[in-house]
Amino acid sequence: MLRKLRRHWEQFGREDPFWAALTWKDKSDGRWSPDDFFQNGEVVVGNLLDRAAELGIEVPRARALDFGCGPGRLTQALAARFETVDGVDIARSMIANARRFNRHGNRCRYHVNRRGDLRRFGDATFTFVCSLLVLQHMKPGIARGYVREFMRVLAPSGALVFQVPSYDVDSSEPVGPARQSVPRWPLEPSACRARIRPASDSLTGRAGELVPLRVDVENAGDGTWPCLGQSDGGLRVWLGGHLALPGDEFYWRLDAMRTALGRDLEPGQRVTLDAWITLPEENGDYLLELDMVQEHVCWFRQRGSEGAVVRCRVDGGRERVPVEGQGPRIARSAHAPAPVPATAQSASWRARAWQRWQYLTDRIQSRLASREAVMEMHGLARPDVQSLVTEAGCRLIEVDRQAQEHGYEDCHFWITRQ
Ligand SMILES: C[S@@+](CC[C@H](N)C(=O)[O-])C[C@H]1O[C@@H](n2cnc3c(N)ncnc32)[C@H](O)[C@@H]1O
Repeated sequence: MLRKLRRHWEQFGREDPFWAALTWKDKSDGRWSPDDFFQNGEVVVGNLLDRAAELGIEVPRARALDFGCGPGRLTQALAARFETVDGVDIARSMIANARRFNRHGNRCRYHVNRRGDLRRFGDATFTFVCSLLVLQHMKPGIARGYVREFMRVLAPSGALVFQVPSYDVDSSEPVGPARQSVPRWPLEPSACRARIRPASDSLTGRAGELVPLRVDVENAGDGTWPCLGQSDGGLRVWLGGHLALPGDEFYWRLDAMRTALGRDLEPGQRVTLDAWITLPEENGDYLLELDMVQEHVCWFRQRGSEGAVVRCRVDGGRERVPVEGQGPRIARSAHAPAPVPATAQSASWRARAWQRWQYLTDRIQSRLASREAVMEMHGLARPDVQSLVTEAGCRLIEVDRQAQEHGYEDCHFWITRQ
């Protein structure tokens, strides 16, 4: 897990280290001047120490730790106020920049630390530990491990402050803008609930043709639907469709389409998709059954969700041959075929080529998106932090809270050793 985090931050550190540390809109693409960037650190550290004094915390100015220091915005300002300071970062590229801008000689040391702990430092090493804009970018389980470590390396008379988005209740849900994530687990059955509304309830087309259909999809479950898949395409959630021909006892079904969501869909969110349906080669009055599918796992209808049905007339093709033993797949109507990667089983070469192309571009998109550097956003629950503090025998002095636009609170936790 840390490997991916490191790769992303290495890339940010190479491309735009100041902006990656402090993502002000007008400062992207190298528009932070070093002077402004480090001046900002002076203001922030000045405010932190003023706030500590207000809270009645006397911070001994011996040795400070800046965890997740980036190019050293806060580290440099700490070095002006403490005897020595250590800046620690996961990305070599960030540390290279920090060293380049170090104005305090060896009173300020920078370290690359790729571990989930701080074992390079002994217990009770630092009189001040601070970490801003760091823990929010990693999974809560990793962040909790570092919080434990902050308290381990904190000297008895010392103070710790870290910032992280927080909640009253326990939540590990990511916060922030729309995401494209690659899932690791199948969805819970309660997350497999969809409301699917096609723009039209009937379609007409020529055999083998691709016909468009606009479909409104709502996540009516209680979990996020990931829009990307693993490297074999498995586990992604997308809209699927089957063409079914009602028979006496059996339907035979054709995989008629898969349409990507484009972004993760949170519970309650909706998206409008432009689906393309591959019509079969044989004439007939079909039913197009629309449903969400988690690839290689299940159709949502198998978990009790409701799909949608569109009537579909196909002409201009072959007359239909008897079903027995001939259809691409014969299944009882109650059983949807097991989800498999999309294939056009009896469509024209043009439709097959189109589906193949869609399948390949989706695979490439998934790969690229999972390699692109992303700043994940996460939070830690306040009760969770409180219990970590108690466990470590420390004292939570104050939580400074500030409401943020995505409905979470940005918190600074102030902690001392008792
Ligand atoms: C948004 S920047 C903030 C930099 C600095 N704290 C500041 O406020 O200017 C986040 C920094 O945390 C670092 N980081 C992320 N995960 C880390 C980890 N597990 N261990 C150490 N540093 C990490 C990143 O490399 C990056 O430099």
